[in-house]
Amino acid sequence: MQLQKNISLKDYNTFGIDVTAEYFLPVTESNHIPELLTDSSLPQEQHIIGGGSNILLTKNLSGLTLLNQTKGIELLKEDNDYVWLKVASGEVWHELVMYAIEHGWAGIENLALIPGTVGAAPMQNIGAYGVEAKEAIESVTAWHKEQQEFITLNNNDCRFGYRDSIFKHDLKGKVFITHVVFKLNKQPSFHTEYGAIKAELEQMHVDELSIKAIAQAVINIRSSKLPDPKVIGNAGSFFKNPTISTTQYEQLKQEHEQIPSYLVSDDMVKLPAGWLIEQCGFKGCTRGGTGVHEKQALVLVNKNNTTGKEVWNLSEEILQTVQSKFGITLEREVQIW
Ligand code: EPU
Repeated sequence: MQLQKNISLKDYNTFGIDVTAEYFLPVTESNHIPELLTDSSLPQEQHIIGGGSNILLTKNLSGLTLLNQTKGIELLKEDNDYVWLKVASGEVWHELVMYAIEHGWAGIENLALIPGTVGAAPMQNIGAYGVEAKEAIESVTAWHKEQQEFITLNNNDCRFGYRDSIFKHDLKGKVFITHVVFKLNKQPSFHTEYGAIKAELEQMHVDELSIKAIAQAVINIRSSKLPDPKVIGNAGSFFKNPTISTTQYEQLKQEHEQIPSYLVSDDMVKLPAGWLIEQCGFKGCTRGGTGVHEKQALVLVNKNNTTGKEVWNLSEEILQTVQSKFGITLEREVQIW
């Protein structure tokens, strides 16, 4: 373990923002974590980066930045119907999805190609194409910095919500997630209800539905709409899709007939923030080094050596414009550091 000083974080966040970490330390072994996080000779202000795919860095990070590179996938147990996999939090999410598919284990195939690490999956309950990570997560193990012990949270304890969990609230900044246990199905139940998947499977002329075919459909859709962070820096959806009352929705519909919506309960409706942002004219726009992706208005991109401040300012402009045009307050999905 080599403590490094003044390291650029450009390659460690998918936005590609060039700020520095005062001290920087890659962590490759989970069992080093208790020793590391109780070491009083190390800076006590600490930041943990996994894939860096859901953060916007707006300043240099003082103190210690830990890069989670822990690895390992262990088959804990299995029965006729399920397998339980214990996965190190530093594993790359998409590699886990591909590993599960190779073994014929279903449950996370709709989440193919989501950038980031396994540790971020419970943190923000990653989701796409009709499936959320919470549906496959059995438990999460983390080192609790104040209690100085490992804690294990079962699925309920994690208080999963839409792009949300206890790790963004009560446990924010207090834990280092070390492992996630996934319960995957040996007998798949396919989730193809999300419109774009059905259409893509038809285009692919798939004769027999399989988890592999679904993952390929998802990969095709994502690659066509979402910018590859290796080519154009971004952090996926910058805002959450807002939920409003059916009453507010009916009022909006009078003025905006075409407004798309998904019913989430008897009296609540979810709207695609991408549509709202597009209607405000931001799709494909440029503001200095940043801008909005031309194929998906929910994604802010690094067009040319942008800064966290520039991206933040554009997100403020979008928030205010959507607020005044639709009376809806968008919420950022990306974590601002
Ligand atoms: N739309 C527009 N213009 C746009 C973008 C979207 O009009 O520029 C409208 C279209 O009507 C489209 C609808 O919004 O049919 C939904 O768009 P899309 O299927 O691309 O999904 P999304 O609601 O924009 C969410 C997730 C994505 C996830 C997709 C697919 C959030 C914040 N985002 O986006 O997740 O991949 O659904 O399930 O919930 C992420 O979290 O980083 C992410 C990429």
